[in-house]
Amino acid sequence: MEVLPSHSLTKGGALPEHIAIIMDGNGRWAEKRALQRLRGHEQGAEAVREAVKGCAELGVRYLTLFAFSSENWSRPIEEINHLMGLFRFFFKKEIKSLLENGVQVRFIGHINRLPEDIQDLIKEICEITRDNSKLILTIALSYGGQAEIVDAMKALGRKIQAGEIDPEAIDEAMIACNLETADIPDPDMLIRTSGEKRISNFLLWQCAYTEFFFLDVLWPDFRKPHLEAAIEEFSRRHRRYGAL
Ligand code: FPP
Repeated sequence: MEVLPSHSLTKGGALPEHIAIIMDGNGRWAEKRALQRLRGHEQGAEAVREAVKGCAELGVRYLTLFAFSSENWSRPIEEINHLMGLFRFFFKKEIKSLLENGVQVRFIGHINRLPEDIQDLIKEICEITRDNSKLILTIALSYGGQAEIVDAMKALGRKIQAGEIDPEAIDEAMIACNLETADIPDPDMLIRTSGEKRISNFLLWQCAYTEFFFLDVLWPDFRKPHLEAAIEEFSRRHRRYGAL
């Protein structure tokens, strides 16, 4: 994909309301430089700052980042601990700037599996930023799309058991209402970096009509021009939602 300079981003073109990103390639970025994988995650945190700032500047309303998947728990314990340390550091350090820049932060995923102090930080960051509305930043942590759908099915099952709903009344909207993303629109764009072309259990239900963008850049190298180039391409795509 051609990376265009900032000023060439189509003015008045269709700006996506919601961008979701699978931030992939931290390990390969480090390995290419004969560094430990952990260094790649650290540089990845820098790219997170850029993506948040870039989306806020461009007027994107929702940004959802895949920071740690349900499957990432099976990585070596040193890498998990380092990532947890990085989340801890990032949340503490960025809270002020997120607040000042109008960013509302939310989390999706099995947060209860995270270390308790990170759970406390998460509660604090959500509480402090909850009245912001310029950019709604959702961070998926310990998240899996299938697990999210399983949770929604359990919730519906309990409501059926309690006689609150009739199984025949279940439709797509009711399922969507029982997902963690119930109050945000589905992503218009999904960006995955590193050249891999997979969805990897991210927002499975929500991506039914999402436009996919697979970028060859590794996540730590992702910068605003990459975001702008993807948005530029998005504005040229014709979305049909299954119709003609
Ligand atoms: C995938 O790259 C990336 C992750 C599993 C972690 C993502 C985390 C960050 C970008 C750190 C900062 C995030 C926040 C929200 C502060 P990989 O390790 O699978 O890379 P590889 O496929 O090249 O091995």
